Amino acid sequence: MLGREKVFMDLKAVLKDAQKNGRAILAANFYNLETLQGIAKAASELKSPVILQLTRGSIEYMGLNTAVALARSVIYDYGLQAWLHLDHGDSIDLVQRCLDAGFDSVMIDGSEKPFVENINLTRKVVELAKPYGAMVEAELGYVPKLGQDDNKLGFTEPDEAKKFVRETKTDALAVAIGSAHGFYKQTPKLDLERLKQIHEAVDIPLVLHGGSGIPAEQLKAAIKNGISKINVATETKNAFMKSLAEEMKENAEIDLRKVFPKGIEAVKKLIGEKLKIVGNG
Ligand code: 13P
Repeated sequence: MLGREKVFMDLKAVLKDAQKNGRAILAANFYNLETLQGIAKAASELKSPVILQLTRGSIEYMGLNTAVALARSVIYDYGLQAWLHLDHGDSIDLVQRCLDAGFDSVMIDGSEKPFVENINLTRKVVELAKPYGAMVEAELGYVPKLGQDDNKLGFTEPDEAKKFVRETKTDALAVAIGSAHGFYKQTPKLDLERLKQIHEAVDIPLVLHGGSGIPAEQLKAAIKNGISKINVATETKNAFMKSLAEEMKENAEIDLRKVFPKGIEAVKKLIGEKLKIVGNG
């Protein structure tokens, strides 16, 4: 039951269905057992599907097999409809290891490479993922990562998106429409007109990165215009660590089993709010 057999509907079909029906699936990054439990408690209570994401950093922190085993056990224990996804895969080697470890979906992020290199890299990953039945997400355009300049504009061009999808046959596409990873210095303003054009140009699920700090109304408008996977990471780390810091201000408790539940609850509350916004709660 905890193995790699595909118990759930194909993620691509689920995202397509969500796109068609004006909903999105939340993709929540987790960092340890406690953040994973917070996400799981929220999804379970709301009976909501959820994508569990790991970056290279989290995989290196927990260990690949440990992280996968944690995710599979938690999915089982909480009875979740959930998928395990590699977020921002940065090499063929990492993608291969994740596919071998049983990930349901992998992202290859060639967004900082020239267009043709991004196409070639993505194409390779699409071929690699095929025998595993895993979904592939690629990225086109510049969604600033933590520490990168978020004034540099590199929005996704609809005609390039069309060519990219046709040439790579990627299953899902992350688009640059004004979001950025990490907290925003000022409220972001998503380019919904551009999103609409991308949605008209390509017939696959679209992904919004940098979900932390985007107002609910904008998230909903993005979903209406074709976004069907929304990534949230920074707010989860923030909720977990802030609640622990707050707790420890008052108290010198060393039994982490008494302190960590506060963090789990903070993550549960945050993810519950996000799940309701994306329309699955
Ligand atoms: P945030 O950290 O801004 O929520 O972005 C998450 C993300 O897009 C992960 O790929």
